Amino acid sequence: MKNRVFSGARPTGRQHLGNYLGAIQNYVNLQDEYDCIYCIVDIHALTTLDDTSSLQKNIHEMMLDWLAAGLDPRKSILFVQSHVPEVTELHTLLSMVTPLSWLLRVPTFKEKVKLQPQNVNYGLVGYPVLMTADIVLYKAGVVPVGEDQLPHLELAREIARRFNNLFGDTFPEPEAKLTTFPLILGLDGKEKMSKQLDNDIELALSDEETAARVMEAVTDPARRYRSDPGHPKICNIFRLHGYFNPFQSDNLAEQCRSAEIGCVDCKKALAQEINSTLKSFRERRAKLAEKPEYIVNVLADGASRARVIARETIKEVKQNMRLL
Ligand code: AMP
Ligand code: TRP
Repeated sequence: MKNRVFSGARPTGRQHLGNYLGAIQNYVNLQDEYDCIYCIVDIHALTTLDDTSSLQKNIHEMMLDWLAAGLDPRKSILFVQSHVPEVTELHTLLSMVTPLSWLLRVPTFKEKVKLQPQNVNYGLVGYPVLMTADIVLYKAGVVPVGEDQLPHLELAREIARRFNNLFGDTFPEPEAKLTTFPLILGLDGKEKMSKQLDNDIELALSDEETAARVMEAVTDPARRYRSDPGHPKICNIFRLHGYFNPFQSDNLAEQCRSAEIGCVDCKKALAQEINSTLKSFRERRAKLAEKPEYIVNVLADGASRARVIARETIKEVKQNMRLL
């Protein structure tokens, strides 16, 4: 059997460049080499949402991006977390072997407490346990994620290890797989690119919208006038050139350092490269958007295939725990 890959992402709707470079690209590349399972984690989304009215729309928009980016339902299982309810059962069972102290020291939990002090719910503390359940339910060994997820992955390994020690070898210890761009900064040049922080560039924008968004980006703060020499190493626009315009980036760096080009020129060039890289993605996405029932079918098929594996694992887990 090929080693299994699992990854999940919250249904945040239209995906941005950070999701694409940090995760989706890897998902697509791994499809030929591994048995891949990719999941839209709607239950995880509930830890931060108090209004769920956009949830179904967000799932749909996200699937359009995944499919247009090259995820192929003939190669990979694509499904929505809550459609395979076994994950919630495993979450409860794993919660019994997870010390609370491990969860309270997770950096993302501490961040969320600061971000939403009015809604520090029980699910938020258990977020990494549910994430572990996602992965080990399918006995996945490889988990493609962005850098922000590494603490969660470390915890997943610890929980799997502890379960195996207590109840016998049941789960592989999953390993993270990063892309070459594991952390994309947002337009502010400081925080990670994220929809919540409104510092993102969505893949599905039009060419004009993309250009307008790139123009908003913060560049080298020391470069106040067009004639000031720039410092490409600390400029986020330059970093993005590294991906979208790799063959020109040395040249651009030199022109920036010598003030031969200004930030506006550099941004225009970047917008153009993003638009040409995403051209065929955007065409595929527009075609897919005309067939909403196709997405529903892909997800239904994905859930039924995932469920077969999930049921087997749950049975084994319960046997090992002497619940059966
Ligand atoms: P999220 O939308 O936060 O659920 O993230 C989905 C996937 O995209 C995860 O694997 C994240 O690590 C990855 N990701 C999200 N934002 C970024 C970013 N700014 N840079 C790199 N990877 C990211
Ligand atoms: N926590 C991940 C994020 O915020 C989403 C996620 C949930 C996940 N379950 C997972 C990622 C399992 C990888 C594997 O992006």
